[in-house]
Amino acid sequence: MDDRTETPGLTRRRALGVAGIGIAVPALAACGDDNGDPVGVDPDGLSQGGNQAPGPGSADGIVDAADVPVGSGVIVAEERVVVTQPTAGDFRAWSAVCTHDGCLVSRMDGAEIVCTCHFSRYSITDGSVVGGPAPAPLDEVSISVEDGRVVRG
Ligand code: FES
Repeated sequence: MDDRTETPGLTRRRALGVAGIGIAVPALAACGDDNGDPVGVDPDGLSQGGNQAPGPGSADGIVDAADVPVGSGVIVAEERVVVTQPTAGDFRAWSAVCTHDGCLVSRMDGAEIVCTCHFSRYSITDGSVVGGPAPAPLDEVSISVEDGRVVRG
């Protein structure tokens, strides 16, 4: 049987090709899973490598100042905060919630904070967008350093 006899102008091969595209597009367009959670976010934020805090934040601070590398930063996922140190002794902090679609940023790349959901990149200096689809800078978090710990406020 000739394919063209089933549907004029549409061979079986073409029909399968169209179906394949129809299946792929929703998967690419999806931003979250069936629960509405962003895809690609490590729930504890500690298994994707990069410069992430070695331990959880606590009531007595977010992270040890000594654990924040100069010229980069650490992501403290359980506190939903990124603490950076653009230059020695100059500590800053930003919300870890990406302004694009709400994933937690998940990786440090030198002087940039990276959201691997859709690869938005932010500056460690001012939280501004330096790449990707994020529409706005990360929100600043007020911090200070007390007894070697970075604390809120
Ligand atoms: S949620 Fe899309 S880049 Fe972060």
